[in-house]
Amino acid sequence: MASAWPYWLPIRADLYGISPYGAPQISDVVALNTNENPFELPKTVQDSIVSRIGEVVHGLNRYPDRDAQVLRSKLAEYISKTTGSSVSSENIWAANGSNEILQTLMIACGGADHLAIGFTPSYSVHPLIAQLTRTPWFAGTRDQDFAIDMVVAKKLIHEKNPSLIFVTTPNNPSGTSTPLADLRELADLAGQVGALLIVDEAYAEFSEEESAVSLIADFQHVVVVRTMSKAFAFAGTRLGYLVAHPAVVNASLIARLPYHLSSITQAAAEVALDYADLMQSEIATLVSERSRVFEAISSMGYKPVPSAANFILFSGFKDDASDVWQRLLDRGILIRDIGLRGYLRVTIGTPAENDQFIAALREIAE
Ligand SMILES: Cc1ncc(COP(=O)(O)O)c(C=O)c1O
Repeated sequence: MASAWPYWLPIRADLYGISPYGAPQISDVVALNTNENPFELPKTVQDSIVSRIGEVVHGLNRYPDRDAQVLRSKLAEYISKTTGSSVSSENIWAANGSNEILQTLMIACGGADHLAIGFTPSYSVHPLIAQLTRTPWFAGTRDQDFAIDMVVAKKLIHEKNPSLIFVTTPNNPSGTSTPLADLRELADLAGQVGALLIVDEAYAEFSEEESAVSLIADFQHVVVVRTMSKAFAFAGTRLGYLVAHPAVVNASLIARLPYHLSSITQAAAEVALDYADLMQSEIATLVSERSRVFEAISSMGYKPVPSAANFILFSGFKDDASDVWQRLLDRGILIRDIGLRGYLRVTIGTPAENDQFIAALREIAE
């Protein structure tokens, strides 16, 4: 693999074998592969964003507010309202997508002598960012239902003594949730070994489970990572954030790049937060479509995993999962082969897209 790189490029040896992260971006297909929200922004919000950007555009000769004060206050308001836990802008840090938040956290709190652990299968970007920041990573496991076995987790945490513990809930790719009681126990264990518990809640708004934000008052080392990419249908803007003790925010300030969040991004996200209810008005549709797609997959003899997110992982193929993936693509439906043997993941689309997926899968199943 080393030979793929030109001899003159001083790329880090530990990156030789890595391919750039990313799912295929193919045009003219029904794209159900990246857990995007399929609904376009409501027209009122589109218009308001355009008008607000019109207001900031004259000032683009200046750097943006590097601490994103207004945006962080609005995010704090949204979190306080939706989780019932009162937080302020001092508890919030924002960046270009939650991926950047994760990277900032690992730059600030990871590194060669700080072990990070996760419970796999889970979001593959966590170990990727660990590698990029030279943070050693240990992949703990989940049980056959993709739940975290607390007995196993407790043993692992005491054995490994990590600095960072990652839990994704609802989990990607399984869609399964970790109950708040288990997160509380994990927070307690993290406290015992002096670790941060990083709860990735990218899909929280699709779930009934209470947010881990409620743990922050009792456990100062709990960090909740959120995004506007999914429930807000705002993936193109790139806006993620964390909710945590102000010390975590201060550490993020050190690790962030100066002026990382453009004035345009901040303005667009502020408007979206003013219209939070309208922006999220399709969540109910996606949740009811999730049940419909689940039933359809199951009625064909496949085995879907119960999901609290906007996607479903399923198995039970007669052929190789990658064959089924290809045959769906041949019919114009792009879903995700996440490299988990025997499983594929489909994002919930619009009702019409879901119909197309169901019809194509039925054809393959026959
Ligand atoms: C669990 C999880 N966390 C974080 C992200 C990153 O989201 P973004 O960078 O768009 O905020 C994703 C994206 O799919 C995800 O699945």
